[in-house]
Amino acid sequence: MKTIANIVLGFLILETVAAAPTVQPVNYDSDTYDVTLEDLDNLYNYENGPSDQKEIETVPVIPSGNRELPTPPPEEPEEEEESTPKLIDGSSPQGPEFPVIIIPQTNEDLPACLLCSCVSTTVYCDDQELDAVPPLPKQTAYFYSRFNKIKKINKDDFANLRDLKRIDLTSNFISEIDEDAFRTLPRLRELVLRDNKIRQLPELPPTLTFIDISSNRLGGKGIKQEAFKDMEDLHHLYITDNNLDHIPLPLPQNLQALHLQNNNILEMHEDTFCNVKNLTYIRKALEDIRLDGNPINLSKTPQAYMCLPRLPVGSLI
Ligand SMILES: *[C@@H]1O[C@H](CO)[C@@H](O)[C@H](O)[C@H]1NC(C)=O
Ligand SMILES: *[C@@H]1O[C@H](CO)[C@@H](O)[C@H](O)[C@H]1NC(C)=O
Repeated sequence: MKTIANIVLGFLILETVAAAPTVQPVNYDSDTYDVTLEDLDNLYNYENGPSDQKEIETVPVIPSGNRELPTPPPEEPEEEEESTPKLIDGSSPQGPEFPVIIIPQTNEDLPACLLCSCVSTTVYCDDQELDAVPPLPKQTAYFYSRFNKIKKINKDDFANLRDLKRIDLTSNFISEIDEDAFRTLPRLRELVLRDNKIRQLPELPPTLTFIDISSNRLGGKGIKQEAFKDMEDLHHLYITDNNLDHIPLPLPQNLQALHLQNNNILEMHEDTFCNVKNLTYIRKALEDIRLDGNPINLSKTPQAYMCLPRLPVGSLI
């Protein structure tokens, strides 16, 4: 996966700087940032061995916003045409040592790409002390803005971004999200809101396959009734460390992993996962249920696991 990703990146860079032979080869520190779904799966499912390769889509490789990016040699002659994309030493407010790759954009797209790195359809804004989502190019498909200081997600932040597939806002200070902030995004598949202060989950689009809202403050009321019901493709639902007091139901049929550890879940019912009225029903996709770190005694509901391929992880005493 990494090799393919690196080749893709290689092509991208070749294309981008082909006409500027004086620019030194760019050696991105890809360790941090070429996160693929495979990596994520491995990270989250380390206890379950390798994940299902068929389900994996490649997330485009992203250059790091680190200081290791070489700046182009300053005074060498340049022969490229004016319209050629080039590596420039864009100075961000955070520090002049932060280089930015600019791919031709319309003027209105410039703000995010000046502050962040834009490569193809990926916008990369990690660790930029942002306190709001910057205006994003219309064609953005992957948006990373981890380790910033964003407090609120407004309904206009992602409006009209019809190609947006992944939003990652891990480790911000988000406490409020407008009800319509994500709802109408037609292609959104992965939403990562880990490590924030979210008390209320807004309405989400049914296209989601991957949701991580771990380490927030959802408590007993932060998730609406039947919030995940219509998400036919939802495979991973991670809601650890939220003081949640119930399992959000109904669980979509194709769910593979449900992580609810370190919450305040006290009980479950015989039909939380299975169907007590139909003993031939099998929920074969759901292989990975984590309920450890909850004050629940799984031994009290032996009938509740009949249809599952594996017992949930949690206290059985
Ligand atoms: C019981 O579940 C099986 C498998 O999901 C299904 O084919 C069957 O129609 C169900 N029976 C009833 C009575 O709902
Ligand atoms: C858990 O439930 C089982 C079955 O009802 C019971 O025998 C056991 O004592 C319970 N354990 C605790 C720690 O309450």
